[in-house]
Amino acid sequence: MENYFKASVLSLPGYGAPPQEAPAAKLNQNESPFDLPAALKKEILDKALTLSWNRYPVNESPRLKEALAAWHQLAPEQILLGNGSNQLLQTILSGCTEPGEKILCCPPTFSLFELYIALYGGEALLVPRLPGSETPQAEIMTAIKTRQPKLILFCSPNNPTGSEFEVAFVEQVCDVSRGLVVVDEAYAEFSTQSFLPLLKQRKNLVLSRTFSKAFSMAGLRLGYLMADAEIIAQWRKVNLPYNINLFTELVGLTLLNHRALIEQQVQFIIRQREWLLAQMQQIDAIKACPSAANFILFSCPDGKALFAHLKGRGILVRDVSGYWGLENHLRVNAGSLLENQLFITALHEYYL
Ligand SMILES: Cc1ncc(COP(=O)(O)O)c(C=O)c1O
Repeated sequence: MENYFKASVLSLPGYGAPPQEAPAAKLNQNESPFDLPAALKKEILDKALTLSWNRYPVNESPRLKEALAAWHQLAPEQILLGNGSNQLLQTILSGCTEPGEKILCCPPTFSLFELYIALYGGEALLVPRLPGSETPQAEIMTAIKTRQPKLILFCSPNNPTGSEFEVAFVEQVCDVSRGLVVVDEAYAEFSTQSFLPLLKQRKNLVLSRTFSKAFSMAGLRLGYLMADAEIIAQWRKVNLPYNINLFTELVGLTLLNHRALIEQQVQFIIRQREWLLAQMQQIDAIKACPSAANFILFSCPDGKALFAHLKGRGILVRDVSGYWGLENHLRVNAGSLLENQLFITALHEYYL
């Protein structure tokens, strides 16, 4: 393979996609437990039948950009669409990173950050930020001032810890950084905080969002970046043409007209997250972290054994013990009422 591939690819572990079989409770990928209502799916399918599938979609879907811009009170030129936000992360890195350039992130965080940094030959500047501890603001500031990373990748609410970066801190980071500050807000809809207002004040801030979580569209792949129009204009040159297919565009546009339904589902998920947290906090052996996302990180004395016990009952959670600093940690997302109850019952069986 050495003759064929670059060294950074050969040494990559690759993205370990978790199991996707449909068990009794699927709580391992932070998906929405709500599929779209059948009537809405039917309405979308009827519209899809009227489209010309033999033609390319209009590049960069201006209609979708306009709808998103109107929602967030931005200009359409401030939006870049992606085939999922993962694809946009790749666009960000391929547009900004020369080999050897420094990119700061705070592990444990979204696993694709380090994977793409390695793929594009960047040097990862890692400032650990452990669950349950304060943001290491001084360490992050020192790393930025002394090493001047080309890019800073934050995730807020952070996967897999569920904790957030403080808006005032990110504002200071934007001020001292000569590079771009990217905040992956894949779980923003489940939080009371957003960096959107800051976007209007800081030119080097970039926000990444997805329709995979709150909008129940993981299977259809739609994500978007929001940033200053001049910055977006550069990434438009890097992004693949026609990356948003006709069907994804149609579903995205439809859902933006059904925001009340999405909001109701988000509120349900937040209530379930809080219910799960309260239940888990009653079990002495477990230490569950409060979360601003749709999942909860927890530690236990015997992570692998508990994972196997849950799996044996058809309950899939995510084993995150391989993440930096997270030995014996698992992550569970808020699912349907039944799924959440099955999970808590299985925990009781195991520990009580
Ligand atoms: C922080 C974060 N960003 C992005 C994604 C992926 O989003 P998408 O489905 O839009 O590619 C995930 C998925 O789990 C995530 O946790």
